[in-house]
Amino acid sequence: MSPIMLDSELSVGALTLPNRVLLAPLVAVSDLPFRRICTEMGAGLTTIEMLSAQTLIYGSRTSKALLARHSSEPLLGAQLTGPTPEMVADGVEVLEGYPLDLIDINMGCPVRKIVAKQSGSAILKDPERISRTVALVRGRTQRPVTAKIRLGYDQERRNVAEVVRRLAAGGVAMIGIHGRLREDRYDVPVDYAGIATGVAAARAERGADFPIVGNGDVTDAQSAHDMIEKTGCDAVMVSRGALGNPWVFEQILRPGTPQPTVLEWRRVLMRHLAYHCEHYGDKPFAILPFRKQLLWYTSGFPGMRQLRDSLGAIEHKDRIIELIDLCLKELDPETRRYATQAQPDAVAASLSERYQG
Ligand SMILES: Cc1cc2nc3c(=O)[nH]c(=O)nc-3n(C[C@H](O)[C@H](O)[C@H](O)COP(=O)(O)O)c2cc1C
Repeated sequence: MSPIMLDSELSVGALTLPNRVLLAPLVAVSDLPFRRICTEMGAGLTTIEMLSAQTLIYGSRTSKALLARHSSEPLLGAQLTGPTPEMVADGVEVLEGYPLDLIDINMGCPVRKIVAKQSGSAILKDPERISRTVALVRGRTQRPVTAKIRLGYDQERRNVAEVVRRLAAGGVAMIGIHGRLREDRYDVPVDYAGIATGVAAARAERGADFPIVGNGDVTDAQSAHDMIEKTGCDAVMVSRGALGNPWVFEQILRPGTPQPTVLEWRRVLMRHLAYHCEHYGDKPFAILPFRKQLLWYTSGFPGMRQLRDSLGAIEHKDRIIELIDLCLKELDPETRRYATQAQPDAVAASLSERYQG
């Protein structure tokens, strides 16, 4: 058993998370409908995808739309990035007008376009800038400020200990450590020892109660257990493991929870689709982002070929339901997901185009 119970509460500043299994901010994935589903399936915290401080400051309509919160969302974080401490702090000030519980600063995005604008993981090259950013941001908000980092920019600048020390000394309420370097992108297995180095630096600066979240390759109860056991972190953050798989939260929180049956799978997928249409509408352009989700959902059951092949032409909710039911007709409703097919490796899961760089 893990020394930490993942289903126990976690204090983050003045907030109390109900458990220690968090959904990562995910560009083009962690939208309001998906967050609702993940929350219902147990996620202890969900976060809006990375927003750019510049677009927030210029009042971009897209950013404003992304900041919508559903009345059923118990806790909600927003994540932002920017090219300078001043810009990030100005962006945080804009966020003060929105109903959020926590502000996370992205210090890990590897996308070339973002890094070229001195945002995302570019900040890891300049630790002094990290301290200045935290100080300015904390001066603009009373909300807990957290940071999500990588182990460093590249092999030569593997500076997780220094980055964590600066963040902890600057007064952030929690740090999420993605156990890869910027140069690794997503292509190598998570480096538990690297995260453990960050955990040790945090403990030295702020003591045992300072929360650290481990991120990377958490896809089920075993990998969540490994993350806690091998790094000493306090909580886990699920990213690719949640794509088309909101059941992962239940499975981690209650080890031994089996994969969903066809019936359970259909029930949750239909609820996600209903939330999607409630939020975006049931029009061709509104259904578009759901097609990608559907592709992820369809792994694990035989006979989904027809649905996958028809995805490009789907324009309405009713057509999705019709195709799903056509595919499920041949299956025993008690068949469990991945009973006849292997669960895909998280590393092989497809990335959002906007987060690939
Ligand atoms: C589709 C996609 C979108 C992502 N968007 C964000 C984001 O908005 N903010 C962020 O900090 N990380 C983002 N990430 C990185 C993940 O949160 C996570 O750090 C990374 O995928 C490693 O975890 P994993 O190995 O469990 O997938 C994204 C990753 C993917 C696959």
